[in-house]
Amino acid sequence: MSEQQGYGLLKGKKGIIFGALDKRSIAWRIALACKREGADFVLSNAPIALRLGALDELSEKTDAKILPCDVSKEEEVEGLMKETKEELGSVDFILHAIGMSPNVRKKIDYKNLNYDWYNDTLDISAISLHKVLHFAEKTELLNNGASIVALSYIGAQRIFSKYSDMNDAKALLESIARNYGSRLADRGIRVNTVSQAPTKTSAGTGIKGFDGMYTFADKIAPLGNPTADECADYCVTLFSDLTRKVTMQNLYHDGGFVTSGISEEMIDGLVKLYAEEDDSE
Ligand SMILES: NC(=O)c1ccc[n+]([C@@H]2O[C@H](COP(=O)([O-])OP(=O)(O)OC[C@H]3O[C@@H](n4cnc5c(N)ncnc54)[C@H](O)[C@@H]3O)[C@@H](O)[C@H]2O)c1
Repeated sequence: MSEQQGYGLLKGKKGIIFGALDKRSIAWRIALACKREGADFVLSNAPIALRLGALDELSEKTDAKILPCDVSKEEEVEGLMKETKEELGSVDFILHAIGMSPNVRKKIDYKNLNYDWYNDTLDISAISLHKVLHFAEKTELLNNGASIVALSYIGAQRIFSKYSDMNDAKALLESIARNYGSRLADRGIRVNTVSQAPTKTSAGTGIKGFDGMYTFADKIAPLGNPTADECADYCVTLFSDLTRKVTMQNLYHDGGFVTSGISEEMIDGLVKLYAEEDDSE
């Protein structure tokens, strides 16, 4: 769908897209889908990511200006809101696709977390949503009826050991979305999280054991793992006027994983595996 003709669902809408790093980034795919649907937006990422990533290419493809912002720095978030206003006027949607855990990167076990890094994980991956909304309001950037989407993961509800302190960050992110959603609802502004299945991106594949988590989810989900492009199509609907009364929700985009117990394929595989183990004893 993403490369095809759109439906004009976001015609006339303006927004900010945080978190596109390279072609695999979910935010990159979302930016392409938003463009296809007629939106205008700015792209933002941390200065270091702008040096390492390939955002210029996306900027050219989508006619979107790049505005640097390290979301851990309040003054940069406020500055970004002001610059966005100068560039686009007020906005109708914001995508928060930001996640980073130094502890996960360094493969540090949950019981031995480095607390400075733990703070960084929570600050960058979750509290940043609060900052974005706070400064968006303060600078009067949000139009009535705007839609904010942050990307989450089922680690917020269930423990995936290798996801370590990111499980905590996603739980906090979802809570902030609900809390802020309740406070912006009087202006028709929606705040939701989309809980995406494991997806092969820089952040995803940086997690030890990611391939196992990916395959596990894919085998259990009746529809299989959704791609980043499929996540992009879903986010477009949430930014559009078709979902005006959806707010304060954590919306699973996982091919049915969250409500499935086990798949027939997995049962058959496990039966064989344990039969072989029994035979070899
Ligand atoms: N890949 C997955 O399996 C998966 C599954 C569910 C949810 N998610 C979430 O989707 C979102 C996007 O991740 P992705 O998988 O596309 O990976 P990604 O690495 O492409 O995106 C993560 C982005 O966060 C940005 N970032 C990190 N620190 C920042 C800072 N201080 N200021 C501003 N930006 C900063 C990075 O530069 C990068 O662009 C994240 O919230 C991630 O947790 C990913």
